Amino acid sequence: MQKSILILGACGQIGTELTMELRAKHGSETVIASDIREASENLMESGPFELLDATNYEAIEDVVMHYEIDEVYLMAAMLSATAEKFPMRAWNLNMNSLFNVLNLAKEKKISKIFWPSSIAVFGLNTPKENTPQHAIMEPSTVYGISKQSGERWCEYYFKKFDVDVRSVRYPGLISWKTMPGGGTTDYAVEIYHKALETGEYNCFLSEDTKLPMMYMDDAIRATIKLMESPSENLKIRSSYNLGSMSFTPAEVANSIQARMPNFKMAYEPDFRQQIADSWPSSIDDSAAKTDWGWEPRFDLNATTKEMLENLGKLP
Ligand SMILES: NC(=O)c1ccc[n+]([C@@H]2O[C@H](COP(=O)([O-])OP(=O)(O)OC[C@H]3O[C@@H](n4cnc5c(N)ncnc54)[C@H](O)[C@@H]3O)[C@@H](O)[C@H]2O)c1
Repeated sequence: MQKSILILGACGQIGTELTMELRAKHGSETVIASDIREASENLMESGPFELLDATNYEAIEDVVMHYEIDEVYLMAAMLSATAEKFPMRAWNLNMNSLFNVLNLAKEKKISKIFWPSSIAVFGLNTPKENTPQHAIMEPSTVYGISKQSGERWCEYYFKKFDVDVRSVRYPGLISWKTMPGGGTTDYAVEIYHKALETGEYNCFLSEDTKLPMMYMDDAIRATIKLMESPSENLKIRSSYNLGSMSFTPAEVANSIQARMPNFKMAYEPDFRQQIADSWPSSIDDSAAKTDWGWEPRFDLNATTKEMLENLGKLP
């Protein structure tokens, strides 16, 4: 029988592209998109959509029963920069939505969960370069604390209740199809839009802030590859480090200037600088490579090419 998939928070930066990719792969009718807000035309017209609050257990359970859902991708969350402004709302959303899907799996109403963690689980005492899978964490943001707690709960539900939950620590993600939702790495998307619109960008991080980043195609491929991997291969049930490239704002500016020599960059760090300073510069993702064959495809120049060419074609 064809399995049915539910995506919670499907209208966000990752959910939108993940939904379209899963629909292309499994057929539109078996991939149910949901969010607390209406989706883009593309998403609404390409398959089933439900208005659904990820913090409401009964509402999720109704949809799970109605569509006979097997797998849930939980993409609803409040991201790092926004969470610093609304700490309790972030904690409630990020934790309660996770408990809802973990408990549905514990009660055997669904069989598999994808829940994303983040490089924000790491903190100032973590080794910054080539950050190991297992390292001191001590996150210093509300968002990072919620992700680290989430990782502990995922592993706990796997060990205690045999819940098949899978996770990666996404780095900052870059996409031309969707805008980012209030994170610390949003500059790396905005910069391409501004390069094409005005030819200049005022960056909210300093020029030498090196962070781990990833092009969205790689992130979606990693997510689906992890979900399709045999359960017995997966040694880590908290969350896998996931890497592809690391760069500074100055390096993105250079890669844009190689194509648009008149592009101008200025720097005016704001409160997000402190968040970025507490995160790793690069990631050791050897466990993901060994356990489920992870291999990234996009570097900075390939990302810049994709971003400028595709955004340049938009009306
Ligand atoms: N984008 C990144 O760079 C990045 C990096 C690391 C981890 N992540 C994680 O990946 C996941 C998805 O991130 P994203 O960038 O797509 O976020 P986003 O902010 O773009 O999207 C989140 C979506 O969740 C929805 N949502 C909010 N509250 C909801 C609720 N109560 N019920 C249902 N939906 C609700 C929002 O409407 C939004 O469409 C999150 O867990 C995030 O922490 C993202």
